[in-house]
Amino acid sequence: MPQPPEIPEDFVRLLLSVDAGRVLDVCTGVGQFVQILSGRLGAFDEIFGIDSHEKALEHARANFDDARIRFESMDAAAMTYADDSFQTVAIANSLHHLEDRTAVLSEMRRVLAPGGTWIIMEMHADAPHEASRVALDLHLWAAAMDRACGTYHAPVVGRQELILQVETMGLQDLRTAEWASDFVNDSPETIEHTIQAIDQARAKLADIPESDGLSAKADRLIERIRTHGIGQQPFLLFVGRLGRS
Ligand SMILES: C[S@@+](CC[C@H](N)C(=O)[O-])C[C@H]1O[C@@H](n2cnc3c(N)ncnc32)[C@H](O)[C@@H]1O
Repeated sequence: MPQPPEIPEDFVRLLLSVDAGRVLDVCTGVGQFVQILSGRLGAFDEIFGIDSHEKALEHARANFDDARIRFESMDAAAMTYADDSFQTVAIANSLHHLEDRTAVLSEMRRVLAPGGTWIIMEMHADAPHEASRVALDLHLWAAAMDRACGTYHAPVVGRQELILQVETMGLQDLRTAEWASDFVNDSPETIEHTIQAIDQARAKLADIPESDGLSAKADRLIERIRTHGIGQQPFLLFVGRLGRS
């Protein structure tokens, strides 16, 4: 079995530098970023993960056995937490999933104590090699499928655009780390499993006007997956502080 990609040292060092206190992970999904945070932060007291998808939260709860970590069902655009409730807020791979990004970011700002830490991890579109581009194009295809089915899922943006978006948030002492790995998974099981998932997804397309284009794209993707395997999309990690007002 191929080993999963290693988290790069720069990434780990940046997380290790954070004494995080009470942490909120927004759009936590099944808790993948909570897994990274709980293992790599310099220190933390509690981590709360919130998401609006109850099924994902069920998986998240099953994935952790740590009384300091809990998951709650909540709309990130209208949180029920009091102002200044957390010393750290985090969001991973979800900026491009937010239908109302302004509302979510403003809620994260509201619940973060002045001087608190803001952590953002987000994938970008500047894939470094062919297997990584396959992963990116698979993600872009899945996003197009979501949109065709009425679910908000914007395409991921390029590295420079992502940096600009985060810089615009006005965080202080902003530090970044890159994760652009040369990891390739070309195991026959993974390839067949991914192709099956693509085929299952496109089976739902019959009544959707974009179905021909999306299905043709899926055929090309499957060919490239068989030829190159599946790499990892590149990520950027940002850590900054909310100014004291
Ligand atoms: C790509 S997934 C989560 C990724 C996860 N943070 C990780 O690193 O693996 C995006 C998540 O955003 C959630 N989401 C989108 N909009 C939301 C909102 N307004 N409130 C809460 N969750 C939301 C979705 O339910 C989905 O679970």
